[in-house]
Amino acid sequence: MISIIVAISQENAIGIRGGLLCHLPGDLRHFKVVTSGKTVLMGERTYFSLPRHPLPNRRNIVLTDRMEFNEEGVEAVHSMDEALALIASMDEEVFIIGGGMVYRQFMPHADRLYITHMHHSWPDADTFFPEIDSQIWEPVVREAHEANEQDPYSYTIVTYKRK
Ligand SMILES: NC(=O)c1ccc[n+]([C@@H]2O[C@H](COP(=O)([O-])OP(=O)(O)OC[C@H]3O[C@@H](n4cnc5c(N)ncnc54)[C@H](OP(=O)(O)O)[C@@H]3O)[C@@H](O)[C@H]2O)c1
Repeated sequence: MISIIVAISQENAIGIRGGLLCHLPGDLRHFKVVTSGKTVLMGERTYFSLPRHPLPNRRNIVLTDRMEFNEEGVEAVHSMDEALALIASMDEEVFIIGGGMVYRQFMPHADRLYITHMHHSWPDADTFFPEIDSQIWEPVVREAHEANEQDPYSYTIVTYKRK
């Protein structure tokens, strides 16, 4: 099973100048809880943007064109075909954790989406998540979070399944 996990703005933005849009500790905790002990797959740019990589307590897979990519504790795959074949050989939920280029390619293959809808806009954002088509995706769980002294914006975590 392929699941996508992402935090998006009101305009589906996900990144700015190679980094995240904001620091939202509540969402980072949610990401850790959902993905810990699981397999995560990401693009090379997202991998190197992580403050700590590879992500601890998770099997890390990186999609990269560079055959010389060689990072301790990381499995590299070099094409979507190779990535999908590896996932098909694993009998478990695999989490696609970004970034924009990788989300776009995996969206047609995903079974489930864990979307953190941040109730805010970033006009300077330069990386985006694809449209979540309501003809295809049905929200099944919704969890609202208010802004607080740690989290500067309110957000809603929605789980979507294919209709
Ligand atoms: N809001 C969120 O939840 C969230 C989550 C993750 C990331 N982000 C943000 O997203 C941004 C990064 O996204 P991005 O689109 O720039 O990069 P990305 O998707 O993380 O990585 C792109 C790289 O992955 C490799 N790649 C992708 N598809 C491939 C394929 N089919 N075959 C081989 N290699 C492939 C390529 O590496 P090569 O360079 O080797 O060709 C490509 O340059 C950052 O701003 C990051 O902070 C946000």
